[in-house]
Amino acid sequence: MSPVGRRGAGHTGDFGRLLAPGRIGGLDLPNRVIMPAMDMNLCVDGSVTDAEIDHYAARAAGGVGLVITGTGAVSWPVGAASMHQPGFSDDRHIAGMAKLADAVHAQSGRVAMQLCHHGKVSTIDMANDRPLLVPSVPVPAMDLSTLGDCTVDELMGLANASGGKMPTYRAATDDDLDEVIDAFAAAARRVKAAGIDAIEIHAAHGYLLSTFLSPGYNHRTDQWGGSVDNRARLTCEVVRAVRAEVGDGYPVLVRINGHEFGPDGGITAHIAAAQAVLIAAAGADAIHVSANAHDPFANFTAGPLPDTVAAYRPIAATVKRALVAAGHDVPVVGVGRVLPEAAEDMLASGDCDFVSMGRQLLADPDLVAHLADNHRAAVRPCINCYVCVEQNFFDLTPRCAVNARLGRGELDGVGQADTSGVRCW
Ligand SMILES: Cc1cc2nc3c(=O)[nH]c(=O)nc-3n(C[C@H](O)[C@H](O)[C@H](O)COP(=O)(O)O)c2cc1C
Ligand code: SF4
Repeated sequence: MSPVGRRGAGHTGDFGRLLAPGRIGGLDLPNRVIMPAMDMNLCVDGSVTDAEIDHYAARAAGGVGLVITGTGAVSWPVGAASMHQPGFSDDRHIAGMAKLADAVHAQSGRVAMQLCHHGKVSTIDMANDRPLLVPSVPVPAMDLSTLGDCTVDELMGLANASGGKMPTYRAATDDDLDEVIDAFAAAARRVKAAGIDAIEIHAAHGYLLSTFLSPGYNHRTDQWGGSVDNRARLTCEVVRAVRAEVGDGYPVLVRINGHEFGPDGGITAHIAAAQAVLIAAAGADAIHVSANAHDPFANFTAGPLPDTVAAYRPIAATVKRALVAAGHDVPVVGVGRVLPEAAEDMLASGDCDFVSMGRQLLADPDLVAHLADNHRAAVRPCINCYVCVEQNFFDLTPRCAVNARLGRGELDGVGQADTSGVRCW
């Protein structure tokens, strides 16, 4: 089958909507399936490596419409969560990104990179005794009691990136925020210069921009806090600065929390919808509606990796309706354990325009190709076991309970055992 056929363009089977072409900003996509950012932790010194490239090129080869790379730090290693994540802070990072773009394009795929400042989760700042940037102090406390269930080895693993240091926090000043905005814009310039097809601004999951968006974390009384508009100001300024750098037509997606699980007082779907309208007006080409748990230890299976199918569908629908009502023809990307049947239904109802499938695509890089081949039964299902993300907590490369190949020679086979002489009984 041709590469286009394996991406589903013009498909008339059970997944006709999922496999129909779409457009984000100036970028035509062959289908509605996006692979959301998932850290692989395979970068070296902030640069994308061949191992990382192989992983994303394998998803492009499997027909994914748009592959988004695991999150990277705009001021790397400042504001970073890992020494193994992509960095965007220096022109020397461009070469690896360019190689990634070429490899994905060689598979007829499209690739975006996710830009982040990790704020209160900047583990590398912690390791280097730098205070973590937050909207306001004190930072709301988390219930860490479940750490008591961990073994000493697990606790040591959780401290891999931070070196076991404890965090200190600092409320960002106007100068800090100007630097952050400039860093996002400079990062966007480098990503575009590398030939990467799109950018996603990470304003979700408890990182810096999302803490400014959140009434639970942002208690400021200046222009950066106090009202929905003020709390959205930092994300909107980042979008404007990025847009000014990359120009019209270059696709800029923004990932937000559609809900914060945990104590009352966090982001709700209605707050997220109002923020999405402001972010779209600032120049975003798509809104990716995720969700987060205030307390990763207590609420992790609620967000951002939910255990129920299509968990955030109503939230995406609320955001989509608000955008339409405000006159913004901006696609919404739905996420949250979206299986193909749920995806088809979400697209049919207009609750969203694209879907992200994260763990499904770790488990089976060829998911889209199987659907395009009318072979749904061939899709290897993610069993929702959380093994992959556990490895991230230890600052390691994800392993998958159902896909032994994840992260090692997925496309090029490098590192795979030669099983040609092996016989089963
Ligand atoms: C191993 C792993 C790493 C992740 N890393 C990121 C990340 O870097 N940035 C991000 O926005 N979300 C990240 N996520 C969340 C996913 O993008 C996605 O939103 C989540 O897995 C829910 O989608 P799913 O149910 O289809 O897996 C990660 C998820 C996993 C499993
Ligand atoms: S490790 Fe488990 S949760 Fe993660 S992708 Fe594989 S099957 Fe799914």
